[in-house]
Amino acid sequence: MKYTIACFMAFFVTGGVSAQNKSQAALKVKINSIVRKMTLEEKIGMLHGNALFSSAGVPRLGIPELTCDDGPLGVREEIKRFDWASANWTTDSATFLPNGSAIAATWNPIMANKYGVVIGEEANARKKNIMLAPAFNICRMPLCGRTYEYYSEDPYLNSQLAIQSVKGIQSQHVAACIKHFAANNQELDRDSVNTIVSERALREIYFPAFKAAVQEGNAYTVMSAYNKLNGYWCSENDFLLNKVLKSEWGFKGVVMSDWAGTHHTVAAANNGLDIEMGSSGPYDQWYLAKPLLAAVKAGQVSEKTIDDKVSRILWLIYHTSLSTNHPKGSIVTPEHAKSAYDIASESIVLLKNDKHLLPLKTSAVKKIAVIGDNAVRTFALGGYGAGVKAKYEVTALEGIRSRFGKTATIRFAQGYRANYLASNTDEQNRGYDKPDQKLIDEAVALAKNSDVAILCIGSNREYESEGHDRKSLELPFGEQALVNAVSSVNPNTIIVVMAGAPYDLGEIKRSNHTVVWSWFNGSEAGTALADVLKGTINPSGKLPFTFPASLQDSPAFSLNTYPGKGLTADYKEGVLVGYRWYDTKNIAPQFPFGYGLSYTDFSLNKFLTDKSGYKKDETIRARFKITNKGNSYGAEVVQLYVSDPVCSVLRPEKELKAFKKIFLKPGETRTVEMQVKVTDLAFYDEMKKAWNTEAGEYILELGNSSRNISRTVKISVK
Ligand code: BGC
Repeated sequence: MKYTIACFMAFFVTGGVSAQNKSQAALKVKINSIVRKMTLEEKIGMLHGNALFSSAGVPRLGIPELTCDDGPLGVREEIKRFDWASANWTTDSATFLPNGSAIAATWNPIMANKYGVVIGEEANARKKNIMLAPAFNICRMPLCGRTYEYYSEDPYLNSQLAIQSVKGIQSQHVAACIKHFAANNQELDRDSVNTIVSERALREIYFPAFKAAVQEGNAYTVMSAYNKLNGYWCSENDFLLNKVLKSEWGFKGVVMSDWAGTHHTVAAANNGLDIEMGSSGPYDQWYLAKPLLAAVKAGQVSEKTIDDKVSRILWLIYHTSLSTNHPKGSIVTPEHAKSAYDIASESIVLLKNDKHLLPLKTSAVKKIAVIGDNAVRTFALGGYGAGVKAKYEVTALEGIRSRFGKTATIRFAQGYRANYLASNTDEQNRGYDKPDQKLIDEAVALAKNSDVAILCIGSNREYESEGHDRKSLELPFGEQALVNAVSSVNPNTIIVVMAGAPYDLGEIKRSNHTVVWSWFNGSEAGTALADVLKGTINPSGKLPFTFPASLQDSPAFSLNTYPGKGLTADYKEGVLVGYRWYDTKNIAPQFPFGYGLSYTDFSLNKFLTDKSGYKKDETIRARFKITNKGNSYGAEVVQLYVSDPVCSVLRPEKELKAFKKIFLKPGETRTVEMQVKVTDLAFYDEMKKAWNTEAGEYILELGNSSRNISRTVKISVK
């Protein structure tokens, strides 16, 4: 019987593959015939923007315009065709989804997929063919203004999430545009900095999520980054676009530039850029418009190169707007709200719960003080860069009212003033970090008189913004003074930090017993937070990046490579990014990568591999038992790191190679298997220009954060 099923499956799979191959071959024939009918002018008309968020089709041949939109937080509100002002539509309200680092904190690829499906469905309802998302540049430098949009400092976690968000978006016949390729890790000087990155660091750290999103996620489009990489603009970088992306990885889709991130005609056209995008016209004067026509006529760019670009765009169109069975899409549905809620509730990270104050016992809490500007602030819009016109956004105060309002009196005090705008000069923002004593006094009076004080602090979408980096890791707006004042009068103070990037929580970590980390957590942020406080949701988020104890500890600062000298940022730390740096250099972080508590306890036991020695083409099967030892249902993210203690090159102390989020009932034990291919233990050998899995001993380390390894197993590779 087993045999029959296997045969049937094999037949089915091969049948499926060959049907797919056939339809791809038929599509190729169709595309070739369309290209043959096009004039050179029509072809070039497709290679550049014709408005802010579209590029032209060829109406004569039934080829529609391609439309795109930002972005990671949800489908952006409709703007005018030729400028950034709102189009004043009344039908463009969308679901606000949790930001990138929140998705990453779920450590759950299923959540990334849910995110993608919502984006895809809402994009269809808005008739967008390409969504400029997901964004997953590596979080190299803790101050980067777009950390909140990105996922993680770790290439493996990054890859698993990138694959699923791309698959989710594209399941709706909408193209994902993975961005920004590559090594765009700071906002300061982003459109002029030359990042110098070794090939090993590119292959081991900065490329993996892009490669996985292309090869496993089948991403249809890639956005080239603003910066230069090793001397060449990313939009005209032959190594990046032609050699690695298109040739090595077999990328079939379209490379589009970041907005106004193209610099030359011939270099961009020959080195892999397919569509030039940007902001203001005249569009026919752009590099890939009339100047490209002239370059083709002058023989500097071949018509074969142009045909390849046009064929890629047609391939994209046939997978999106002209696809068969194209879904109609839907917007702000209850299902989308549920997805936003699920992601938010899995993303919240419990950093401290020393007194077991959480979950709050409703019977003992009759008066709740909710304090802080972030308790009433929304995060869908703000700063530069993409936002969402959220149909609704539940604030923390609203969430707490809805979950505790029946059993307790809830009162609010603002606590601090968030006087900071991304568009202001430093001079205009001066004083933003000063506490407001009057607001602190009001908050203290309220806290004194309450059973519990929930202090909602952190940053906001003005303070963390595209286009600029933060200047320090300190909490802004004089928040520390507020925390100290409130904590000194109310022993039951809960600190809730809402932000998208690492901050210095040193004083809070030392002096406060209860700390919860939330994010720019989407339309359902307040509901998810209140459910975590109440215990309806057991927190299961884990930090997707390290919180360093001080800025100086971080690689970019300790090696003095940020923001770079003379517009050159030399990534001297090589592969030692994030915890790879802190662990290898033995620097204690404030909160480690992968860290997060739960209301229950888990134990990991019986960690074993299927064998002790492996050949290079084999897969390691590692098994362990996990038990929920506590009284509440919950999830643990079990993380499998590998270290290679003896190697011909310096390797990070450990590297994440697998993880699993496991939900368990109280008392439940489960046996779980994780698999790691032996080839995934390789490093990139710059001498051989190839991946190298050296023979020898490796240590598999199992834990629930990069700094809490509870079981290890040694294996050898022959
Ligand atoms: C950003 C991109 C974005 C584009 C269009 C650029 O400034 O870097 O991420 O997709 O603008 O809004």
